[in-house]
Amino acid sequence: MSSPADASPPTDRIYVYHHGLRWLHWTMAILIFAAIGLGVVSAYLPVGQEPRRSLLELHKSLGFTILILLVLRIGWRLVVGEPSFRRPLDRATRLASRAGHLALYGLMLFMPISGYLYSGAGGYSLPWFGLFQWPRLVPRDPALSHLGEVLHDRAAWVLGAVLALHLAAVGWHHFVKRDEVLSRMTGRRAGD
Ligand code: HEM
Ligand code: HEM
Repeated sequence: MSSPADASPPTDRIYVYHHGLRWLHWTMAILIFAAIGLGVVSAYLPVGQEPRRSLLELHKSLGFTILILLVLRIGWRLVVGEPSFRRPLDRATRLASRAGHLALYGLMLFMPISGYLYSGAGGYSLPWFGLFQWPRLVPRDPALSHLGEVLHDRAAWVLGAVLALHLAAVGWHHFVKRDEVLSRMTGRRAGD
């Protein structure tokens, strides 16, 4: 017979993100950092020349890959949901985290779509690692392409800001509050 003192936490509770979602989070984080780096470097290089052309081909290919993984991730997330907290966060922190995560999901969708509009309507290439070209679903229209360019550029700044907040929040949880937040995404058990 077990007494309340040695009662262990309920075993049907899951405290870490599903391993597939963890894998997607970290893989996509690497791809997104790479896409941002390539985009920023390309923006400073002379137009229509090497190495900008090759760097942008890689940038766009990564962008399309991110979009495909995002669709998979959102579907997976809707099916398996998020893990429970051993020690629930307070309401304000929970709301801020939800808003931040929602913004990141929105930006992960908006970046490839605005980039597609920019390149697609501008008549530029829509490559996937030199293997094939994605279909051009938008008309060639300089005004539409310019709109895509402006949106892509503005959204890149917003993404940078929200990502900085995301990293600062994770750092705050891990180093200051020393709670379980980082371990939910690494899969390592939190040291209660
Ligand atoms: C999650 C995916 C993506 C991210 C995070 C991303 C991010 C960025 C960033 C940070 C820049 C540099 C800032 C700027 O000048 O606008 C950039 C530039 C650029 N991106 Fe993306 N991008 C993504 C997807 C795409 C896709 C799918 C395409 C096209 C199919 C694309 C096309 C471009 C182009 C052509 C530029 C050069 C802008 C210039 O002329 O200066 N991007 N991107
Ligand atoms: C080194 C970089 C990163 C670290 C250390 C990190 C860390 C984390 C952690 C610990 C969580 C779990 C939060 C919780 O349990 O409430 C999380 C969730 C999340 N992260 Fe990151 N992250 C990084 C990069 C990124 C990037 C680049 C993106 C996308 C632009 C991103 C998007 C998200 C999203 C959308 C969630 C919410 C997941 C969900 O509930 O479905 N992260 N991240």
